[in-house]
This record gives sequence, C-alpha cells and structure tokens, in this order.
Amino acid sequence: MTDKSAAVDCSRVMWRSAFRCLGTNCVAGLRSMSQSSLSGKVAIVTGSTDGIGLAAAESLGKRGAHVVVSSRRQANVDRAVERLQSQNIQVTGTTCNVDKREDRENLVKLTVEKCGGVDILVSNAAVNPFFGNIMDSTEEIWDKVLSVNVKVFFLMTKLVMPHMQKRGGGNVVFVSSVAGYQPIRIIGPYSVSKTALLGLTRALAPELAQSNIRVNCVAPGLIKTNFSSALWQSEDFLDEFTKQLSIKRVGEPKEISEVIAFLCSDEASYITGETITVSGGMGCRL
Ligand SMILES: NC(=O)c1ccc[n+]([C@@H]2O[C@H](COP(=O)([O-])OP(=O)(O)OC[C@H]3O[C@@H](n4cnc5c(N)ncnc54)[C@H](OP(=O)(O)O)[C@@H]3O)[C@@H](O)[C@H]2O)c1
Repeated sequence: MTDKSAAVDCSRVMWRSAFRCLGTNCVAGLRSMSQSSLSGKVAIVTGSTDGIGLAAAESLGKRGAHVVVSSRRQANVDRAVERLQSQNIQVTGTTCNVDKREDRENLVKLTVEKCGGVDILVSNAAVNPFFGNIMDSTEEIWDKVLSVNVKVFFLMTKLVMPHMQKRGGGNVVFVSSVAGYQPIRIIGPYSVSKTALLGLTRALAPELAQSNIRVNCVAPGLIKTNFSSALWQSEDFLDEFTKQLSIKRVGEPKEISEVIAFLCSDEASYITGETITVSGGMGCRL
C-alpha cells in the first residue's frame, strides 16, 4: 500500500467510527456532557435561607445532594426548608449564627449525626456593618468584619475537614466578591475582607489537596439580594457600576449558585485554589 492510500484508508476508518458513534451513542454522549450528579453527597451551606446561599442550596440539592441550610433566624430556616422540600430536595435545617463558635460546632455535629458526614462546604454567610469613608471605620468594625468574613471561613473549613477526610475527600467553596479585586469605596473594610478570601483559598488548596479536598472561591459581582439592596437600589451607584460591566445588568443568585455547584462537581476535578469571578464581565485583577 502506498503512503497516500494508507492515509485515505485511515481517514475512512476514522470517519466510519465517528458516524458509528453518532448513530448509536448520541444519548450517552449527551449524558456525559450533562451535569454531574451530587447524589449521596452532603452539603453544608452557611447563610442559606436567602439570596446566594439559598440559591446554592437549590443548585446543589437539584443535583441530588442532601443540603443542610442554616441562618440566624428560625423563621427563615423554616421558610427555606419548606421551599426546598417543595422542589423535592433532601434538606435539613437548623439555626446557626456563624459568628458563634457553639453554633458552628452544632451545625457540623447535627450534619454528621443526621446525614452521616460532610462532603461539601459552601462558606457564604458574611457581614457588612459599615458604609462610609474607610478612615471613619473603627477597630470594632474591623474586628467584626475580619472575624465573620475571613476567620470564620477558615474555622468552618477546619471543622468540616476531618469529616471530609473520613469520606475520602470533599469540596470547599468560599463566597468572596468582586469588591475583593476592586474595593468599593463606601464599603472598604468589607472589600478588604473579601480580598483576604482570595488569599485564604490559595493558602488552603495545596494543604487540603493532600486529603483530596478541593478549595475554590467565587467572586460575585452585583447580585440582586437584600444584602446588596442599598447598592442596586441607588440609581447613581447602579449607573456608575454598570459602566464597568460588559453585561449591563445586576446578576441573579442562580447565576452564582450554578458556578458553585460546578466547582463542587466532578467536572471541576482538576480545579483547586482558584477564584472564579461571576460579574457580568467586570475587569477584575489584583
Ligand atoms: N448580593 C451581592 O451583590 C453580593 C456580591 C458579592 C458577594 N456577595 C456575598 O454573597 C454572600 C451572600 O450574600 P447575599 O447577597 O446572598 O445575602 P442575603 O440575600 O442578604 O442573604 C444572607 C443570608 O445569610 C444569613 N445570615 C446573615 N448573617 C448571618 C450570620 N451571622 N450567620 C449565619 N447566617 C447569616 C441570612 O439569614 P438570617 O438573617 O436569618 O441570618 C440570609 O440567609 C455574602 O458572602 C456576600 O458578601 C454578595
């Protein structure tokens, strides 16, 4: 056989197998491209009775995870549990103020007792107790913001880590903010706390990779929730802010939660120590 006819023969074989694959296996092909199942996984999402946390519970729950939702107020927990149950999501609810050590410990203890372990932690609850010029912020403000928005993210990770190790691995996702890249002038201390989370993600990833635990972060842009209502309800702020965006609108919680679910899935199995900005195209760099 000449080189030319061998090449033609080889390409015929390739096309034939490609068509055979399309003809008989297209469903399997599509299935392999669809969302990974999180069935059998247990996910703790902090601050999950509203906004991005609740959406994260929905996105993880719809993929089959048993989600443990919590926040400070029992009435909010009850409402969230009802909403998730109405979507056939397996859910456990409890109160937990992430700022309280006892509440954090109870959250993890209850999860292990009721659900048998922990595979996923979405550390989401955060505070912003201060609006104004950064030089007017006080020591108390800084203590609060750095404690809840940074230290607690680390402490929650430390609490779940032994349980993830028992399951052979897991996923941690931190919710930061684009303010971590580009500080928003009137919320300076909060912005700085969100920058710290980018560092915490990178600091934890190599150490936890040894236990097959991936640590990633999402940095949402301006998302329509109660938390940010002071910003998106201000026309002046909104006009100025959207000038920085390619997609000129406020985002929806689901647009963040689907990225969180992706990071927790097997499709993201080679991603760790990363922060994904989900901001409608805001230029983000440190
Ligand atoms: N919305 C945005 O534009 C935006 C942008 C970038 C980043 N983020 C980040 O996204 C995360 C969630 O914000 P969101 O906008 O979704 O807020 P949200 O809609 O106001 O929801 C906050 C949730 O956290 C709970 N919560 C508040 N303080 C808590 C605490 N100390 N302990 C436990 N739970 C607490 C609230 O319930 P209870 O009141 O019952 O406690 C509620 O379920 C935060 O980390 C925030 O920094 C938001």
